[in-house]
Amino acid sequence: MAVTIKSQHEIELMRKAGDILATVHDELAKLIEPGITSYELDKHAYKLIKDFGCIPSFLNYNGYPASLCVSINDEVVHGIPNKKRVLHEGDIVSLDCGVIYNGYHSDSARTYPVGKVSDEAQRLIDVTKQSFFEGIKFAKEGYHLNDISKAIQKYAESNGFSVVRDLVGHGIGTHMHEDPQIPNFKQIGRGIRLKAGMTLAIEPMINEGVYDVWFLDDDWTVVTQDGKNSAHYENTVLITEGEPELLSVRTGTTVEQEMNRR
Ligand code: MF3
Ligand code: CO
Repeated sequence: MAVTIKSQHEIELMRKAGDILATVHDELAKLIEPGITSYELDKHAYKLIKDFGCIPSFLNYNGYPASLCVSINDEVVHGIPNKKRVLHEGDIVSLDCGVIYNGYHSDSARTYPVGKVSDEAQRLIDVTKQSFFEGIKFAKEGYHLNDISKAIQKYAESNGFSVVRDLVGHGIGTHMHEDPQIPNFKQIGRGIRLKAGMTLAIEPMINEGVYDVWFLDDDWTVVTQDGKNSAHYENTVLITEGEPELLSVRTGTTVEQEMNRR
């Protein structure tokens, strides 16, 4: 499948999808506290998405049973919501969500502290987020995909963390997963040349310890092999001739504003 260039009309629909998704994330963030279950978070996500007239893109995707991925501590991604899974003070939790608005997708993830967390856990959250913003310094026409990948890896590793190898970001648009694949670690070769109108979901998954992961036999949950924490940060991004535009934030939010938001 070739990498597609979106029209202004398609970009407008993706902006709208992203504006709604950002609102869903903001509402979910308010609920993060010790005692809530991952199941309750998913129910809220489903209702919010439906109330906005959107489709939860994760639900039934390859048989995935929920609208939200809730990945706690050593869970890297794709944690399945569960009535018995309770958030505890000191946990870190990543929420990954996607919506479809008028046929167009937006996909984003955030990692939050639950109550008071260790300095090291907070540093992992902050470095993971910043690695995304280091990467997108190269998300503009004329750079190559590997420029983004290299910058993410360099920032994460220079802060003493490791980059998951077995999962990557992706193009996005009329499908959640489109070409190209977007690794968060450097490749052999430069990768495709970036062009205005490409829409990419860039999503560093960063581990406190080793980069190796296990895929659990629930078919979904990915965990770190050493049991240490992992964090995830993702936005849908529009490539332009100048600064990239974030397509999974409230419309009008600049890269700078999102980077400094806490
Ligand atoms: N945001 C993730 C991704 O980019 C999650 C999708 S997995 C799903 O691949 F099954 F939950 F949809
Ligand atoms: Co994604």
